[in-house]
Amino acid sequence: MSTEALFAGWIARTEQHLHAALPDPDAAPQRLHQAMRYAALGGGKRMRPLLVRAAGHLFAADPALLDAPASAVELVHAYSLVHDDLPAMDDDALRRGRPTTHIAFDEATAILAGDALQTRAFELLADAPLPPALAVACLRTLATASGAAGMCGGQALDIDATGRRQPLSGLERMHALKTGALIRAAVRMGALCGGAGDAELARLDGFADALGVAFQVRDDILDVEASSEQLGKTAGKDAAQDKSTFPALLGMDGAKARLEALAADMRDALAPFGARADALSALAELAIRRSH
Ligand code: IPE
Ligand code: IPE
Ligand code: MG
Ligand code: MG
Ligand code: MG
Repeated sequence: MSTEALFAGWIARTEQHLHAALPDPDAAPQRLHQAMRYAALGGGKRMRPLLVRAAGHLFAADPALLDAPASAVELVHAYSLVHDDLPAMDDDALRRGRPTTHIAFDEATAILAGDALQTRAFELLADAPLPPALAVACLRTLATASGAAGMCGGQALDIDATGRRQPLSGLERMHALKTGALIRAAVRMGALCGGAGDAELARLDGFADALGVAFQVRDDILDVEASSEQLGKTAGKDAAQDKSTFPALLGMDGAKARLEALAADMRDALAPFGARADALSALAELAIRRSH
């Protein structure tokens, strides 16, 4: 099977699972439920669920074990986008080609929808058909990646760095947290569900750390080079808001060189797995060459 066909099947499976996991839009409180569904079901590349499934695939994990981790990381990601777009943060009106959640609904509903998407993610893992020790390992992995030591911490660094220059090490750390942490959690949960050993987990952490930074470097490049139509979100926002980004610090050539170096790191990290890691390699390529 081609990787395209494999990924299309994984996305369809994830979207069915998300659809069933989200609350009934006709049940009260309807506005909250509708906003949650709007934020989580309205498109997106589903990169993090794909990473869960590709990492699981490497170890021949049962696909049914991967459903809850794949949906859970996507729900946390969807919540992070709803909050990232709020006026108090990036103040964005367009996401996934549609009005952002606070525009389509209202700010209070968007805040609550983000909160409830996040808690639903952990509830899904707690209810998952996983052996208890594996469920706890996934819960811990996703919780650490989502909080002050992960995505939220990175978002705080991003807000802090807005309007000022920071050294390259600070920028890398910010990207590793705000975007890398959830990507690392996705890979790690997939690998845990496949029964990966410590050495394999460490190797995949190295891969995912490079991928996480690379994913955000590509996001920063696209913010400069792509159109709003292409991205489904407002282009040129980073420069307009004086965000701390790779193109701003290193210039476009420097940002692209960093991306190529990260691509080489990812290839090195996956090489020992051979063809078993083909799906993960294909996702890494997609992440760094993507056009939206
Ligand atoms: C956007 O993530 C925010 C970042 C972390 C760079 P994605 O580019 O994965 O957004 P969707 O899910 O495809 O909309
Ligand atoms: C967001 O980074 C990372 C998150 C944790 C949501 P950006 O602010 O660059 O993401 P976009 O460009 O709005 O998708
Ligand atoms: Mg942001
Ligand atoms: Mg943003
Ligand atoms: Mg961006």
